Amino acid sequence: MLNDIEKILVSEEELAEINKRLGAQITKDFEGKNLLVVGILKGSIYFMTDLTRNINLPLKLDFLAVSSYGGSTRSSGSVKIIKDIDIDISGYDVLLIEDILDSGRTLKYVSEMLTTRGANSITICTLLDKPARRVVDLSADYVGCSVPDEFVVGYGLDYDQHYRNLPFIGALKREVYE
Ligand code: IMP
Ligand code: MG
Repeated sequence: MLNDIEKILVSEEELAEINKRLGAQITKDFEGKNLLVVGILKGSIYFMTDLTRNINLPLKLDFLAVSSYGGSTRSSGSVKIIKDIDIDISGYDVLLIEDILDSGRTLKYVSEMLTTRGANSITICTLLDKPARRVVDLSADYVGCSVPDEFVVGYGLDYDQHYRNLPFIGALKREVYE
């Protein structure tokens, strides 16, 4: 598994720092709100579990799954909900948790869909941002860090469902997916 990694882009230590920083900021910003943290499966699971343990507020957790890339490194452009949120989100301040903001299509679709359901507010938190690849006009409210235009895996992010359990974020060697 490690042989397939070109280089480490975000180390375990840096991930811990990101979770501390974002957790403290979110704790400040959501004080007194009706916080519902919604993770987008499956890429956000490690980030969500570490981040929420740095949020010092009462909150609820839920999940949403959307259609994924499969064995490709490019999104198809169409987004489909595979698993919906269980909770009726009306009146909640929803914090959407995503692994990486790439073209922006996924988060645009999901945030617009949730807005129509009467949420009090929708806020976007992404671990990684790849601004070079954006095709829709969307930016996140909270960003862990930006990454260059390379295919990255680990800490939840996959290539064809593999590498999610790497404890860091690494760039995948091109020969693995080309
Ligand atoms: P978007 O809709 O193009 O912004 O794509 C977002 C989704 O694409 C993320 O939730 C990831 O699942 C996937 N994705 C985009 N870039 C990468 C990458 O470099 N590594 C792994 N998954 C990626
Ligand atoms: Mg994903």
